Order: sequence, then C-alpha cells, then structure tokens
Amino acid sequence: MADLSIEVNGIRFPNPFVLGSGPPGTNGKVIQRSFELGWGGIVCKTLSLEHEKVNNTVPRYGKLADVNDRKNVYGFQNIELISDRPFDVWLEELKAAKEAYPDHVLIASIMEECEKDRWVEITERTQETGVDAFELNFSCPHGLPERKMGAAMGQDPDIVEEVTGWVKSVSKIPVWAKMTPNITDITVPAKAAERGGADGLSAINTILCVIGINLETLRPMPTVEGYTVPGGYSGRAVRPIALRQVMELARACPNLSISGMGGVENALDAAQFIAMGSQTVQVCTGAMLQGYEMITELCSGLSEFLDSKGMASVSDLVGVSLPYFSTHHDLVDRQRAAKREKAGQAERDSMWKGDIAKETDSLITD
Ligand SMILES: Cc1cc2nc3c(=O)[nH]c(=O)nc-3n(C[C@H](O)[C@H](O)[C@H](O)COP(=O)(O)O)c2cc1C
Repeated sequence: MADLSIEVNGIRFPNPFVLGSGPPGTNGKVIQRSFELGWGGIVCKTLSLEHEKVNNTVPRYGKLADVNDRKNVYGFQNIELISDRPFDVWLEELKAAKEAYPDHVLIASIMEECEKDRWVEITERTQETGVDAFELNFSCPHGLPERKMGAAMGQDPDIVEEVTGWVKSVSKIPVWAKMTPNITDITVPAKAAERGGADGLSAINTILCVIGINLETLRPMPTVEGYTVPGGYSGRAVRPIALRQVMELARACPNLSISGMGGVENALDAAQFIAMGSQTVQVCTGAMLQGYEMITELCSGLSEFLDSKGMASVSDLVGVSLPYFSTHHDLVDRQRAAKREKAGQAERDSMWKGDIAKETDSLITD
C-alpha cells in the first residue's frame, strides 16, 4: 500500500490532506476533532490581533445547486470575514491542540493591517504556541479589502514582498503565502512572496462573485437587510480555475512548496492537484458540505489511486502532469509532425500489399 505521508518544508504530514482555513478550523475543539478523525493537517480560521474589528452577518453563505437536488452543490459563496474570536483565546487553543496531537500539522493563518509592528507581534506571539507553520492570508476577497487587508495586500506585489519579509524576519517556522485568484497573473505576487522569503504558496482563495439574484425580490444574494456585497466563490465550480492557477505557480516558482485547493470533493480531485505540483491539498467547502469524516475516503481513495499507478508514495505523483503544458504554437507543430508520421507510415504500409516476393525484390539493391 502506498505511503501517504509527505515531507514539506521539513514538516512531516501523516497524509497530504489539510483542512483549509475557514469554518472547518473555527476553534480548538474542532481542530482536535479533525486530527482525531485523521486529517494530516489543518489551517486554522484566519486570526488577527483585534477580533473586535471583525463583525460577521447572518446570512453569509449562498449556493449554486441543482434545482431538483439542492444538496448537489456546484458552487458556494461566502461573505464571511476572518475569525471573530479573541486572539488570546486562539493562542491557548492552538497550544492545547498541538500538545494533544503533536504528530498532526497545525498551521496558523494570520492576517493584519499593513504595519510592520502588527505583523511582527502576531507572528511572534502565535509561534510561541508551537504551531508548525504560518499561512499568510493575502487573499480574502471581501470585507477585509475595505480595511486594506486580505486581497488588497495580495494584489500588490510590493506589499506581498514586504509583509512576507516582516514575517520571515521573526518566524522560526515555515511560511506559506496564500494567493488570491482575483488577479490577472498569479505568478507576479507569488514571485514577490518568494523574494520576501516565503517557503511555500497556498492557492487558491475564493474567486470574487455574486451568487445570484432573488427574482421575487430582485435583491442580490446572500441578502442582508435587503443588501449584499460581492463575496468569495468556492467549491466544485472553481476547481478548473484553481488547477490552472496552481499549474502556473508550480511552473513559475519550482523552489517553493505548494498547498493546492479549490473545489476538492474526493480523492481523485486531490490527485489532480498533486499531479499539478501540490505536495499538500486543502479542503474547505468540501468538508463544510460533507463533514470531517470525508477524510476516510480521501485517504483510502488516494492510496488506491497510487497503487493503481504503481506509485509507492505521494511524492511520486507530485508534479507529474506539469511537463505536458506547452504553447498553442507547439501543439500545432506537434500535430503537424504526428500527421506527417502517420502519412509516412501509410506510405510504408502501401508498399506491402501481399505480393511479398515482388515487394522484397523491390527493396533489394543489386
Ligand atoms: C465560509 C468560508 C470561509 C473562509 N474563510 C477563510 C479564512 O478565514 N481565511 C482564508 O485564508 N481562507 C478562507 N476561506 C477560503 C478557503 O480556505 C479556500 O481557499 C477556498 O474556499 C477554496 O477552497 P474550497 O473550494 O475547498 O473551499 C474560506 C472559505 C469559505 C467557504
């Protein structure tokens, strides 16, 4: 049976499945439960120094689902902010979770306003809990950009480089920068994070969207007191976009680790992110819809898949599909060459029609 463990930036993950930052890692209790069920790692809900500034609304989710089967969800929107739990409470809970499950990987997602002192403080105080790594949330697309945080920072390569540098100047553990997909070229901020010293990249965060209009009230959704804001799109529908952006990151930054995510619902979805260059795969919406127990299928399904390919470990699958991306021009050249080869074969075949003695004779030189 294939080995599901994998080492990334010096951290050994028991398996490559990591719960993505969001509701699945909302507090210490659920983090411990996820470890108990077998998740290799978890990124906690993004924390900041001042929870008082974070005010969520109800409702804050919306779904694009099959009209005849509302449980068949294609895409999911949220206008949820980062964690509204006090920072001190988080510190205690992260410490307790790490003490109870030392072999599982706990990653702290952090976000702050663009001031060096704040980023240094959040990094230093959080790493004292014993967490294994940081994920810098440069990518939340709604709410926080109004405070010049999240995607507002992630869309500015100079800020990404500078903030990553602030964190790296005090961090004793690996640092992953989480990229926003809401940008023309995701490799630009990724390379900036690399210049700032990032050890890895996480991608993608949610895609800015409007899930729909309620045609009875003509109000956009999710509707809060009659109004809304565009939110973040996730789930199955974003997977092809996420795969493309992970591929671009893997090709542009081959020296950084990648934690890929976006619409992973089962082991075979995850296998595609790994083949595209991710060492670990995160799941957020999938776990919100299916429950933490989906980890059992993720592990058994990936193990069976690796066995079917004769691969001994997850590392054998990492990035195997990347060499097959090319330019359109090259595809045309390859197709022309293949046609020529086929025509040449047909010509060669036409020489052998059955009159073998005559055909042999025609190939002999005197
Ligand atoms: C309800 C909800 C809340 C989220 N909150 C956070 C967050 O606090 N920090 C963060 O970095 N990403 C957050 N995300 C984004 C996810 O971690 C992930 O990047 C994105 O949803 C794509 O993966 P998925 O399709 O598996 O959900 C959130 C996603 C959802 C659906």
